[in-house]
Amino acid sequence: MKPLLEIENLTVAIDDEPLLSGVNLTVAPGEIHIVFGPNGTGKSSLIKAIMGLPPYRVTSGDVRFEGESILGLPIDERARLGVGLAFQQPPAVRDVSLSALSKALGIEKGKLDDEAAGLGMGGHINGGLNDGFSGGEQKRSELLQLLLQRPKLLLIDEPESGVDVDSLKLLTAVIDASSSGTSRSGNEPSAGSSSPTPGASSNTCTPRAATSWLMGGSYARGRRSISSIRSQQTGSETALPRRE
Ligand SMILES: Nc1ncnc2c1ncn2[C@@H]1O[C@H](COP(=O)(O)OP(=O)(O)OP(=O)(O)O)[C@@H](O)[C@H]1O
Ligand SMILES: [Mg+2]
Repeated sequence: MKPLLEIENLTVAIDDEPLLSGVNLTVAPGEIHIVFGPNGTGKSSLIKAIMGLPPYRVTSGDVRFEGESILGLPIDERARLGVGLAFQQPPAVRDVSLSALSKALGIEKGKLDDEAAGLGMGGHINGGLNDGFSGGEQKRSELLQLLLQRPKLLLIDEPESGVDVDSLKLLTAVIDASSSGTSRSGNEPSAGSSSPTPGASSNTCTPRAATSWLMGGSYARGRRSISSIRSQQTGSETALPRRE
C-alpha cells in the first residue's frame, strides 16, 4: 500500500543543538506505529517536527505525506492535508472554546454535542480550551479536537499519561473505529461496545477509515498500556536511543 507518511534520515535541531539524527519511519494508511524511548530522547520533538512547530528545525532528511515533501509547508497547510496533532501537554487557550473551534471547522452544533458527550466532555465545550481542565480532560479535549478535524494521520503524544482506565478504553474504541471505519462506541467514557454513537454521522466526527496513528510513549509506563491499546492492530514499535 502507498505510504501515508515517510520519514527519511531525519535530523532535527533546536538552534544549533542537534536533537534527533537519522530517524527513518514509514507509516501506511490504517497502521499504528509507536515511538518509544526514555524521557528526553526526542519523541515529542519528532512529533512536533512532523507538524512543523517551532523551534524544531529540520537540518537534513525529508518528511513526505502522501508522497510529497511537507517540510516547506506552514503548520496550517500540513493540518489541511490531514496531519493532526494531540499534544503531550496541550496549551490552555482561554479565549477559544471547543464550541468556537468546532464552528470554525464547519461542524454542526448537534454533532459537537454528540461527540463531546461521547467523550464525557459535554460540560466543557463553552469555556476556554483546556483552561482549568484536569489532565485527563485535557487528553479527551485533544482527542475531541482531532476527531472534529478528521485527520488522515494522527500524531498523538503520550495518550496514556495521566488518564484513567476508562479513558484508555475509550481511546481503544476510537482506534478500533478508525481501523474499521465505523462510528466509535457508546456515550460514556467507559464505552467498549460496538453500538454507534447516537446522532453521529459517518462523514463528520468519527475517525476516517484507515486513519494512521503515530504515538509517542515513554518506556516503563507507556509500553504496557499503549501496547494494550493497539493489541488488535498491526504496526511497528520504534525505539529512540537515549541521548549522550
Ligand atoms: N522547545 C524546546 N527548547 C529547548 N529544549 C527542548 C525543547 N523541546 C525539547 N527540548 C529538549 O529536547 C530533548 C527531547 O525532548 P522531548 O520533549 O522531545 O523528549 P521526550 O522523548 O518526548 O520526553 P518525555 O518522555 O519526557 O516526554 C530534551 O532534552 C528537551 O529538554
Ligand atoms: Mg514527550
